[in-house]
Amino acid sequence: MSTLGRIAARLLACAATSGALFAGGVAYAQTASEPESGDASVPFALPKSGPFTPADINIDNDKAIADWFRSSHANAASEAFSHWDDDGEIRAACATCHSGEGFRDFHGLDGTPAGVVDGPINTGGVVDCGTCHNAGLSEITEITMPSGVVHPVTGVEASCLTCHQGRTAGTTVEAAIAGLPADEPNPELRFINPHYATAAATWLGGYGAAGYHYEGQDYSGRFFHARPVASCNSCHEPHTLEVEFEPCLTCHLADSPDDIRIARQSYDGSGNTSVGIKSDIDANADRLLAMIRAYTDDVVGSPVIYDGTRYPYFFADANGDGAIDMADGRPVAYVAWTPRSLRTAFNWKLVTADPGNFAHNPHYALELLYDSIEDLSDPLGVDIEALDLLR
Ligand code: HEC
Ligand code: HEC
Ligand code: HEC
Ligand code: HEC
Ligand code: HEC
Repeated sequence: MSTLGRIAARLLACAATSGALFAGGVAYAQTASEPESGDASVPFALPKSGPFTPADINIDNDKAIADWFRSSHANAASEAFSHWDDDGEIRAACATCHSGEGFRDFHGLDGTPAGVVDGPINTGGVVDCGTCHNAGLSEITEITMPSGVVHPVTGVEASCLTCHQGRTAGTTVEAAIAGLPADEPNPELRFINPHYATAAATWLGGYGAAGYHYEGQDYSGRFFHARPVASCNSCHEPHTLEVEFEPCLTCHLADSPDDIRIARQSYDGSGNTSVGIKSDIDANADRLLAMIRAYTDDVVGSPVIYDGTRYPYFFADANGDGAIDMADGRPVAYVAWTPRSLRTAFNWKLVTADPGNFAHNPHYALELLYDSIEDLSDPLGVDIEALDLLR
């Protein structure tokens, strides 16, 4: 049995339904008070008079629990876990990733059929211990991405790749805009959101096909990186979720992950190779968003404004005064998408929805940004060569 399998068995043994056990934030999983084997011969047990020193009892889950409890996986108050509170239950379409109970239901780890959430799924769940420490996880051998690509998995990756894959893909955009003229606004089109924390989508790159891919272009596949850092938990401590920087220094010379760079050329036209590759990706993402705005202003004649704090993020500014239009006290969603603005905005959002894009797959992020910039440069009359960008 794998380490994880053993841990899982132990956890399950002492906490038949760890989901329920930890849901309230009370997390005691170890059987520190189990009777000693000699106790069997004692006819009756005197109550202990103390002193009681629970701190001296070694509960080996202690650190894992404390680390996990401080992480965002355990933050029941966050939007990601409280969004459905008023509904009384979590919708099946959302439950797989927004509660351990929904995750187990989707994968059939609760004895129900796999591949579907049979629900109903209670509100109040988080990414609990039983999401990752689950003997059934080892039987999951593949995960289907939103693009339809089926990716083989082993061990705990089955969990990370289920929830951090996003909800839509370039193929979703392709289907929505098929056959439509590139620069004609179409009121039927709505922004297609890749969803959030889409690390696995970035990581699998062109092979996972999360982005909108342009015809005739090749895309870098999965970022294999280097052997010791080839899976989610080789960089992320599984309970704190933090990236441990020390191990990076065996191969990289840098002050922080943000500063890491291998590339000797500049991708963003700045010529500056003394900064991390993150800087190039961020600069090209900023340039792309600026070009999307210029395109909606000058070519489409229906300006868009991006506001990352509220869904659906892209809003109308019909009079071009730089402020989001309001109707009945609510911001007006942008509904003048053209196929070109929709596909470039999708790629922009996909890349920026992953704050770790530079470590998960810098090549793929740069390619999606470059191709989208090139896509817009044509109607904008921008000479892409003069920008000095690299793909
Ligand atoms: C494939 C997994 C997956 C599915 C399915 C999914 N989500 Fe999410 N969602 C996530 C992840 C991962 C995050 C965490 C992003 C973060 O806060 O870092 C998230 C975050 C959110 C947030 C918080 C966003 C914010 O700004 O903090 C909302 C709201 C949300 N999802 C709504 C939904 C709804 C509604 C559905 C169903 C219609 C849904 N999700 C289905 C994975 C998923
Ligand atoms: C997001 C997935 C995930 C969640 C949630 C999670 N764990 Fe873990 N846990 C792991 C992984 C991955 C390992 C490393 C296993 C290995 O080395 O094979 C691990 C290791 C452990 C270990 C071994 C010691 C250590 O810290 O490495 C213990 C004990 C443990 N987890 C307990 C818990 C408990 C208790 C909870 C809930 C409070 C929990 N875990 C929640 C993924 C998770
Ligand atoms: C059941 C779905 C689910 C599983 C399984 C899952 N996550 Fe998450 N993860 C989420 C959600 C939802 C959030 C956002 C939580 C929030 O906003 O409070 C998140 C947040 C994160 C974060 C962001 C932490 C931060 O500070 O914002 C990291 C990193 C992460 N997960 C890594 C992983 C890794 C690595 C694994 C696999 C070992 C994993 N997750 C498994 C749903 C999941
Ligand atoms: C090479 C190391 C590495 C690998 C492998 C890796 N990550 Fe990351 N990840 C990072 C770095 C660096 C960041 C940037 C944030 C930071 O520094 O904490 C990050 C950020 C994230 C975030 C966003 C955290 C936030 O602050 O919102 C999530 C979610 C995440 N990773 C999940 C994953 C998942 C899931 C996998 C596996 C598919 C994975 N990561 C693989 C290094 C890595
Ligand atoms: C065993 C050696 C090794 C370790 C450890 C390692 N890396 Fe790397 N890293 C590489 C190699 C080799 C490349 C180039 C891979 C490629 O482009 O195919 C790379 C590339 C990168 C890049 C892209 C740089 C660029 O200019 O394209 C980033 C960012 C990065 N690593 C971050 C990290 C982080 C963060 C960690 C620690 C969590 C880490 N690496 C640990 C070997 C390593």
